[in-house]
Amino acid sequence: MSRANDLKAWQQKAQAQTESVLEKLMPSEHTVPSTLHQAMRYVTLGGGKRLRPLLVLAASELGEADQTAVEYAMAAVEMIHVYSLVHDDMPAMDNDSLRRGKPTCHIQYNEATALLAGDALQTLAFDILSRPTGLPPSRQLNMIAALARAAGSLGMAGGQAIDLANVGKPMNQAGLEQMHSLKTGALIRAAVSLGAQACPDLGDDDLQRLDGYARKLGLAFQVMDDVLDCEADTATLGKTAGKDTDNNKPTYVKLMGLEPSRRYAEDLVAQAADLLAPLGEKARHLQALAEFVTARKH
Ligand code: IPE
Ligand code: IPE
Ligand code: MG
Ligand code: MG
Ligand code: MG
Repeated sequence: MSRANDLKAWQQKAQAQTESVLEKLMPSEHTVPSTLHQAMRYVTLGGGKRLRPLLVLAASELGEADQTAVEYAMAAVEMIHVYSLVHDDMPAMDNDSLRRGKPTCHIQYNEATALLAGDALQTLAFDILSRPTGLPPSRQLNMIAALARAAGSLGMAGGQAIDLANVGKPMNQAGLEQMHSLKTGALIRAAVSLGAQACPDLGDDDLQRLDGYARKLGLAFQVMDDVLDCEADTATLGKTAGKDTDNNKPTYVKLMGLEPSRRYAEDLVAQAADLLAPLGEKARHLQALAEFVTARKH
């Protein structure tokens, strides 16, 4: 099998695994309160690129992973991500009506349900991460702490606050880098870290190296999100194109223009890939995911 086909097959298998793990770990749509559970399943299942769970899985390939811990981490990071999307789309934030090719949660249900679905997905993520696995409890506690920090006011939620506070204002590169690294980068870093921490044989040196990769990748991912918002169409994106301009958001495209932003993302991805070089073949899926971040069309 060629390298490209190998990656494609791995990616499809990992996406299917993500779907089945999520499906098993969420309450059924008949469980009371059924509308809330239907909404949680509506936003979580059957869509998205699943980049974060794929990063968990790819990072876990570097060591002797505990597979239960890996699957729990895959589900937990995706649930936090999905919750962030549900709230990001609400009228008080970006006010978007399309997500993953479907009406957003507050349009399909209502605003209160969207708030609660996000809240419940967030707490379910931590419920899952605290279930018994084969890992030492101290490792598991570190994983819970890493995800909590990545999601909170010093991570994703903090980045979202900076984003909203700067609508209509000019931002310099340092400000944008901080905002992007928090609102999107923090969870991407947590995904890589959780996958590595699911391997009892990986230590602090390995975690440090991987974190260098994840920092670059997380920033590159949001720079590309800004680029695609301008460049791609709504049907391809599965979310409303041109939304950043409509909402007067500070973005890399606004700061440096479309092509320089794309080149900057490609440069970050190349730097991320270089950091993996000493890890060899075991890191091939992490390498491939880095390339995917800038090659993607949505
Ligand atoms: C969109 O994330 C929101 C950002 C953090 C940029 P993704 O582009 O990963 O969205 P899905 O999960 O594939 O829908
Ligand atoms: C979102 O950034 C980051 C999140 C934490 C959800 P955007 O607002 O640019 O994400 P999209 O473009 O709506 O997916
Ligand atoms: Mg937003
Ligand atoms: Mg948005
Ligand atoms: Mg965007």
